Amino acid sequence: MRIAIAGGGPGGLYLAALMKQLDPHHEITVWERNAPDDTFGFGVVFSDETVGGIENADTFIHDEMARRFARWTDIDVDVDGHSFTVGGQGFAAMSRKDLLHLLQQRAADLGVSVHYRTEAPDADQLRTSYDLVVAADGINSKIRTKYADTFAPTLDHRANKYIWLGTDLVFEAFQFFVKQTEWGTMQIHGYPYSDKGSTFIVEMHEDVWRRAGFDALDIDHAIKKIKDTFATELAGHEIQTNNSKWLNFTTVRNQRWYDGNVVLLGDAAHSAHFSIGSGTKLAMEDALALAACLHEQPSLAEALQAYQTERKPVVESTQRAAQASLEWFENIGMYAGQEPAQFCFNLLTRSRRITFENLKERDADFARRIESAFAEAAGAREAVPAMFQPVTIGPLRLKNRIIVSPMDMYSATDGLPDDFHLVHLGSKALGGAGLVMTEMVCVSPEGRITPGCTGLWNDEQRDAYRRVTDFVHSRTTGKIGVQLGHSGRKGSTRLMWEGMDQPLTENNWEVIGPSPLPYGQSCHLPREADRADLDKVVTDFVAAARRAVSAGFDLVEVHAAHGYLLSSFLSPVANKRTDEYGGPLPNRLRFPLEVFDAVRAAVPGRIPVTVRISATDWVPDGNTEHDAVEIARAFVEHGAAAIDVSSGQVTEEEQPAYGRSYQTPFADRIRQLVAAPAGAKVIAVGAISSYDDVNSILLAGRADLCALGRTHLYDPQWTLHAAADQNYRGEAAAWPVQFQAGSRKPPTSRTDKIPPRLALLRNETDQPVHVRWTPHRRPPS
Ligand SMILES: Cc1cc2nc3c(=O)[nH]c(=O)nc-3n(C[C@H](O)[C@H](O)[C@H](O)COP(=O)(O)OP(=O)(O)OC[C@H]3O[C@@H](n4cnc5c(N)ncnc54)[C@H](O)[C@@H]3O)c2cc1C
Ligand SMILES: Cc1cc2nc3c(=O)[nH]c(=O)nc-3n(C[C@H](O)[C@H](O)[C@H](O)COP(=O)(O)O)c2cc1C
Repeated sequence: MRIAIAGGGPGGLYLAALMKQLDPHHEITVWERNAPDDTFGFGVVFSDETVGGIENADTFIHDEMARRFARWTDIDVDVDGHSFTVGGQGFAAMSRKDLLHLLQQRAADLGVSVHYRTEAPDADQLRTSYDLVVAADGINSKIRTKYADTFAPTLDHRANKYIWLGTDLVFEAFQFFVKQTEWGTMQIHGYPYSDKGSTFIVEMHEDVWRRAGFDALDIDHAIKKIKDTFATELAGHEIQTNNSKWLNFTTVRNQRWYDGNVVLLGDAAHSAHFSIGSGTKLAMEDALALAACLHEQPSLAEALQAYQTERKPVVESTQRAAQASLEWFENIGMYAGQEPAQFCFNLLTRSRRITFENLKERDADFARRIESAFAEAAGAREAVPAMFQPVTIGPLRLKNRIIVSPMDMYSATDGLPDDFHLVHLGSKALGGAGLVMTEMVCVSPEGRITPGCTGLWNDEQRDAYRRVTDFVHSRTTGKIGVQLGHSGRKGSTRLMWEGMDQPLTENNWEVIGPSPLPYGQSCHLPREADRADLDKVVTDFVAAARRAVSAGFDLVEVHAAHGYLLSSFLSPVANKRTDEYGGPLPNRLRFPLEVFDAVRAAVPGRIPVTVRISATDWVPDGNTEHDAVEIARAFVEHGAAAIDVSSGQVTEEEQPAYGRSYQTPFADRIRQLVAAPAGAKVIAVGAISSYDDVNSILLAGRADLCALGRTHLYDPQWTLHAAADQNYRGEAAAWPVQFQAGSRKPPTSRTDKIPPRLALLRNETDQPVHVRWTPHRRPPS
């Protein structure tokens, strides 16, 4: 093959070296616009897996790299002088210059032709004269831009400023310094890369950067200021520069990674924030995969498709972790008040790749310290798993921090809950959750989503729900809350399994909304609610809230999420009113707050009233997480005891970014900025399904409670099972006496695998001397 490679960075050079080894007949040319010595940065970090991959592919490069590696296992976090060391994770790093020298030398030895100080020729020309053109031309790839129509790149320019520096101070570990300065929070990402120096990346929010005056300083004065600010941390050591300048990180993503015979590799294809330290690792892994695919596949087209299929999902997963990490550092200022140990745990678990259980395995002492700090903060005597620390929502005390999230069962007739609801909610309460929420209970017949929704618009419904709350209170130690809602423009639709959000096939009723705008194509066109409609909605909420109190509910939640009536008033995509209920956010908040106030006034003080909100509409012109903070602030100021933070379902146009615990960052933001300072609680929800994730969220202070929905449909006894898995046997997850015989995890079945039964002993000359039978033990009865 004739291969043209634009870019002599780690990705391009490593690919060239691998391809030459696979077949010395390949004719490979690399163009590198810089001189061999001319590169930015200091050290690059690798994980154990990458090192293993390189070892298998090219032992020479691996051994040369390994000789130069600085290796360490600790992460040191220094938060305003409080130091924490967390062990147990393997890292290796080396100087970027050394890595490039090594790869340059290897490529030259293998007969790759590298043109330094030379711009790569135009890609149109290359693709006609070479079999394969590799765009390894870095984050600002010209080739990617040229064929942007096919690659469909997105470039996400982030807000933080950073500068990649070095120091002659050799850190002993991955080193984070987080410092409150007079201008705001600044952080250092440091790690050793040799016995002579460390990488020293300085990062801060652009606002902090401006307040500190960095925008007006040249690089020498900026370095001086950094040195002064971090004088204690540098302990007299120097700061070094190497083409260093202030940058804003750009996350690069591409929909396609190849176009005919042109393929993207490394930073040209993707970037991942340096705080998870994986750009070079990813570029070299791309090179490994591309070389293998070219070697294995019968044609170039199949090879490039196989390469994209293999690498894209892996890279996207890393990018999700990197995104969470970069957003965490962008918002670091909001954790300024966190207790240092919790802050440290928060930092370590920021990308959700490290969890509490991981940390427990790596460093049991640190894990114990975090659990104890949480217990102390919760005023508890005992350090038990965080999910089993009791919690209060307003005046209501819950035995644990697990909530069965509201889930509509669409199984009622005329709004009347029946035996199905008793068994469904009753079994969830028996399953150990601290709080079981009903589905959205509708305040009027026309406020139903579907004909199967339950309601509280008459006394018969109240009495039927009383049966449920009586069961929960008499047979379990859990509490039960009701979620009150009005469907708005999403009403008069089919049961979930017959076509969610689609109008009924017959017997539709008129629906109202803030504006005459449908939720989506083929959805109902609502009538714009007039004064009389609004007054009736308030009256209906109040009447339903009173019935909820006499039905014995412990908590009332106002449903202002998911595009139903109150949510659609909050959202600028659904609310285009020109009166005092539309326009800027304070106006859009007006009606939902009127409803909330009326409900709060109708419910005695001993019963907390909470609100569920959609923290983002997931569309560019909709509410964002910043609006969510203001929405939460308003409800907390009006007396909401907790904010239940969901997202979306406000418009069919939404583009949600699903993933594990994907809504938790919104909860976190609301908790730090609004709820915690005001003493209100925050409930996280959405794709939280393991006890490890629950404990990690709670211990990091991202939420006070977690609501689990679908997980409880899968396993109604989820909380009890989580307790068994964690060997927790306390009050917060006490098994109902009737079930106690089953409170231990059932033994798994015996396997047919024959265990080793022979021990063959050998003498000094390595001859077998004796054959001994291991007595077969009887299984315990
Ligand atoms: C501040 C910072 C810290 C980082 N820290 C780490 C870390 O700790 N660990 C880690 O693994 N990664 C880190 N990275 C990322 C890492 O530097 C890159 O991800 C990695 O270098 C990608 O390799 P690459 O070969 O794809 O691209 P690059 O290394 O960018 O190489 C591309 C090459 O192409 C050349 N080029 C571009 N256009 C042309 C052209 N038209 N003609 C000829 N040549 C051209 C460039 O000169 C360059 O040498 C960091 C990045 C930054 C910015
Ligand atoms: C069948 C079903 C019905 C739901 N009904 C409601 C509801 O009535 N009110 C509400 O606020 N959320 C409702 N939701 C959303 C859940 O409360 C929860 O927010 C969502 O399922 C995400 O959490 P999970 O990933 O743990 O399931 C429903 C979800 C499901 C699966």
